Parts: sequence; structure tokens; C-alpha cells
Amino acid sequence: MKITWLGHSCFSLEMNETSVVIDPFISGNPRFPTAITPDLHQTDFILLTHGHEDHLGDAISVAKKGGATIVAVYELAHHLMAQGVKAQHVIDMNIGGGVTLAGGVTVHMVQAMHSNSIMVGDSCTYGGCAAGFVVEMGGVTLYHAGDTGVFSDMKLIQDLYQPTIGLLPIGDRYTMGPKEAAYACNELFDLKTILPMHYGTFPQLTGQADTFKNLVRRGEVVVLNPGQGVEV
Ligand code: NI
Ligand code: MN
Repeated sequence: MKITWLGHSCFSLEMNETSVVIDPFISGNPRFPTAITPDLHQTDFILLTHGHEDHLGDAISVAKKGGATIVAVYELAHHLMAQGVKAQHVIDMNIGGGVTLAGGVTVHMVQAMHSNSIMVGDSCTYGGCAAGFVVEMGGVTLYHAGDTGVFSDMKLIQDLYQPTIGLLPIGDRYTMGPKEAAYACNELFDLKTILPMHYGTFPQLTGQADTFKNLVRRGEVVVLNPGQGVEV
């Protein structure tokens, strides 16, 4: 599987002919790697952890133009359909459940300790629970934490799915910072490769990758620049 960081919490996963993009924050993302301009319109599946604008991002326009299928929690999924995404391009699910997609990709929706809302005009509309995802693709199991604080049931995610790759927010303020994310790696997970995300995008996100890397004793932290990737 090829994993490419597209800045913030946006990753593309590619395996053979199947591609998955998580949290496609393109417009307004100061760290989106425009130099490589990945063609997200070719994406088969878009996974949305929640409806905040730095995660929902361009999902609706990408799905409408390219025909990707979006996977999201029930309330957010219905918001997407109300915005004109065709029902056959939306898969709704909820925390604790799994679904097998075309191309042999299995997705489990797991808990995230965060809020979830969608901006409609000037107000926040309820978006269901915020989520993380465990993705099984080509024999690799990857965990994308979404936006979350640290919580002890991360151990349950480890026990049930045994992910080897972890994509964890470290930016602080709205999510775990380096200290909390390192605790998750050291005490709750047994990840082999850890990619920090959701930091450095905006001035409010003060968590630093070096601080995180120095605190992690279990697993290898790989610090990418947007546009870079790893093959696993
Ligand atoms: Ni958020
Ligand atoms: Mn966020």
C-alpha cells in the first residue's frame, strides 16, 4: 500500500487499482501539496472522519465531479445527500461497524473523542459522532484517528484490529498534542509506523513533530512533508 500525506489530516491510500482518500481538505489548506496535484477525482472512496471544514473539505465537489463514494457517519452522510451527492455514492455507517467496499477494502468506523458539526451558513448543525477509521487494504491494517483526544478505549481498537500503521493528530488545542499522542503510542497501541498529522497547518496548532518523536518509545515515528509518502 502506498500512503501519501496531503497535508493536515488528508491522506491518500493506493493499492493496485483502488484508491482511498481520507479527509480531503484541499481548498483553504495552506499545506496542500499543489506541486504534485494528485487527481482526487480519480479516487474510488472518500472517508470522512467528521464534518468540520478542515476534514469535510472538498469531499462534496470531488464526489460530484468524479463519482467517488463517500463513507461517513449516518448524520453526515445524510447531509451529503441533502447537498446533492447521489445516494448511490454515499455509504452511511456508525461507530463499531465495518463495511467491505469494492476492491477488497474493509473499513471499520471507530470512536474519536471530539465533536462533530457541519457549518451551514453561520451556524453549526449536528453532524453525528466524530469518528476514526481502521482500514484493511492489501493485507495492511491502518488506523486514522481523525480529530481526537487520547482515550483508554484506543486499547480496544488495538486489541480488535491490530493496526500496524497509525495516523495520529499531534497539533494540540483541538486534538491530542505530542504528549497525549505519545501516550497513545506507548501505552495503548502497538503501532510499527506512526505518521503525525493535524499539526503545523495553522498557527493555533502548536504541537511539533520533533517533540512527539522524542516522546515515542514504541513504534517508529516517520515525519513526512506534505506530498511525501511511505510504501508499506
Ligand atoms: Ni475537528
Ligand atoms: Mn480538525
